[in-house]
Amino acid sequence: MIESFQKKIDTLDISIFSGVPSQTTDADRRSLLAVQRAVAAAHSSYAYLEIGSHLGGTIQPYLADPRCGRIFSLDPRPAAQPDDRRPGHIARYENNSSQRMLDMLSGAGLGDIGRISCIELDSSQVAPEMIAPAPAIAFIDGEHTARAVVADFNFCRQVLRPDGVVVFHDFSILYRPLFAMLRSWRRQKLPWAIVRLPDNLLAVFFDPAVPAADPWLAVMQRRTSRSLLLFRLITLAKSLKRKFLAALVK
Ligand SMILES: C[S@@+](CC[C@H](N)C(=O)[O-])C[C@H]1O[C@@H](n2cnc3c(N)ncnc32)[C@H](O)[C@@H]1O
Repeated sequence: MIESFQKKIDTLDISIFSGVPSQTTDADRRSLLAVQRAVAAAHSSYAYLEIGSHLGGTIQPYLADPRCGRIFSLDPRPAAQPDDRRPGHIARYENNSSQRMLDMLSGAGLGDIGRISCIELDSSQVAPEMIAPAPAIAFIDGEHTARAVVADFNFCRQVLRPDGVVVFHDFSILYRPLFAMLRSWRRQKLPWAIVRLPDNLLAVFFDPAVPAADPWLAVMQRRTSRSLLLFRLITLAKSLKRKFLAALVK
């Protein structure tokens, strides 16, 4: 069983996500498995940090991976959360609780849920010492606002292994703060590898050797500059079209 789970990770088989619903697409899941495969190949054992877990869908491949010894889930489980996808948009998650998540993950039969620590706090309220051993992978999928994503990233940097990786979900909602961070890292000439991943992810590898050693991630890395440029052009064209139509209506 354990061998078959590891094979699924190594072959990017997204059926490993099938036990619990997740707010990710098939392409997101394949990309998340590629990051996990690359990190697991670099370390014999590792820990995983997730910011924003809801039902636990994105925890599944880590629970199934015997090399992942600890899983930290940071989720304050608010009844409603602000969200930058539209001005004034509020995201709501029905019956959102850690116990419900643990019950669903236990039912999926992927591994020992005793390895999961649920911390019902925002990253700004968590003492970094609570996150030990230092995770090698962090996945940010909590509050989808510019303020929260920058704070969550800074928290991850504090608690992650120096050669870890941070993956952001919902790039298309959070591209403004992410592009601002990218510009600042470029100015500082930080040696990190930035990889845009399908469907809607951005990964920051603090050790560039990790994506370079994975054939699929290496291809995605080579495509990243072009893909970010294309994304900028498309968003610019959409915004010009909106402005033009608004001017026509007036
Ligand atoms: C999109 S869902 C996560 C989905 C999950 N990663 C998956 O695909 O299986 C967002 C989650 O973020 C949580 N959340 C809201 N505010 C948060 C915050 N400040 N920090 C961390 N998580 C937060 C919500 O409670 C919700 O469970």
